[in-house]
Amino acid sequence: MNAADARHLLVVYHSRSGGTQALADAAIAGAESDEIDGVEVRVRAAFDATIDDVRWCEGIVLGTPENFGYMSGALKDFFERIYYALLDETRGLPYALFVKGGHDGEGAVRSVERIVTGLGWKAALAPVLVVGELDDAALERCHELGITFAAGLEAGVF
Ligand SMILES: Cc1cc2nc3c(=O)[nH]c(=O)nc-3n(C[C@H](O)[C@H](O)[C@H](O)COP(=O)(O)O)c2cc1C
Repeated sequence: MNAADARHLLVVYHSRSGGTQALADAAIAGAESDEIDGVEVRVRAAFDATIDDVRWCEGIVLGTPENFGYMSGALKDFFERIYYALLDETRGLPYALFVKGGHDGEGAVRSVERIVTGLGWKAALAPVLVVGELDDAALERCHELGITFAAGLEAGVF
């Protein structure tokens, strides 16, 4: 496919101790796998992601650990910086979410869902929640999230 025709997928995530990073790497590898031809992937740490990054994309994958029963401060900072600027611009943007929790993670899922509901973004896939130790099955779930999301964007089904 011509690069100019590629669909744009943005990955925004935060990780402090590497768990969410490993999940992000798996999701990115899925989105960039050989089976996907027409999707360009841009990866941003949550503190670095900008309004223009979101404007650039046609689909966004969000990743965060659960900290204190909520999404990470970094992902919250991202939402605080983009929310009002993009409120009227990005309605309907398809998103997917993965969360790494130590013992729970549901609070982080809910906190993200509340904010993206306000933005009018639509869940393209069920959230992936990984609790406790990382294993191959958890990485595979995130790989699957990445490939499924990218394939959906490529096919224009979202
Ligand atoms: C300050 C702090 C608060 C945390 N709060 C929670 C929590 O509320 N619920 C939970 O399940 N895990 C909690 N954890 C555990 C992290 O979610 C878990 O270690 C996660 O794997 C960290 O992701 P990271 O390795 O990508 O930084 C907390 C960890 C830290 C450091």
